[in-house]
Amino acid sequence: MQTAALTPALGVEVSGVDDLTDDMVAIRCLEALKWRGVLLIRGLDLDDSQQIAFSAKLGDVLAPGGKGIFTVSLDPAKNSMAEYLRGTFNWHIDDTTNDVPAKATMLTARHVAMVGGGTEFASTYVAYENLPERDRERYDGLRVVHSFEASQRAVYPEPSEKQVAAWRTQPTHETSLVWNRIDGRRSLAIGATADHIVGMGTQESRELLDELLVWSTQEQFCYTHDWKVGDVVIWDNTGMLHRALPYAPTSERTMKRTTIAGNEPWA
Ligand code: OGA
Ligand code: MN
Repeated sequence: MQTAALTPALGVEVSGVDDLTDDMVAIRCLEALKWRGVLLIRGLDLDDSQQIAFSAKLGDVLAPGGKGIFTVSLDPAKNSMAEYLRGTFNWHIDDTTNDVPAKATMLTARHVAMVGGGTEFASTYVAYENLPERDRERYDGLRVVHSFEASQRAVYPEPSEKQVAAWRTQPTHETSLVWNRIDGRRSLAIGATADHIVGMGTQESRELLDELLVWSTQEQFCYTHDWKVGDVVIWDNTGMLHRALPYAPTSERTMKRTTIAGNEPWA
């Protein structure tokens, strides 16, 4: 197995992997994921059952709707949830409204878009490390509420009552803005689901969250993945923000997603 950094700050490409059932491969992938945040393996060409099996080597596979694997496509014929996937174009963290967010997400490319359709990642560990001391003090002790509604409002700014009612069936979740991690690092609970800062006015709250998102998604904290069919990308969902880059709703782009259960509750 060989490894090569994707950018100076984050990401690693692993090559020379020939046996995904090997425990050592899983251990080394988890270690690489922990320190580099994003892990790429090209040319694996996994099918659904292989993707689920490889995910299961990394932890417990979450099974929304019982299937364990989810189709990411804007085509309603391929995905009945297609309209919600417009939310993936904004920077976000998956699973922010659960007590224990998913540890990692795996995407595999089955069809790629002719134009666009990359996926971008930003490391909030690196973004936090680079924050000036006065900003760290400013953010210290703040709490943030996450909601599905916030992420959908960004896509549908003038929703119908029915849409709002549907969004509000989802739970909201409050957590600290700066997450002190078990391993001593700090990451940030921000992105599209960040609704407001507890006890702060709407406007001030929005400005603070927007400013922190802009800081965290600067080029030097980011990796942009350009997909080829057969690629596997896994990321540390607790510390990376991610977003899809624009692609046409009519494009063939089809990804499959598996999610690995977390073990560290939001603080
Ligand atoms: C997701 C997601 C990004 C992409 O499926 O949760 O954010 O590039 N996908 O499709
Ligand atoms: Mn996502």
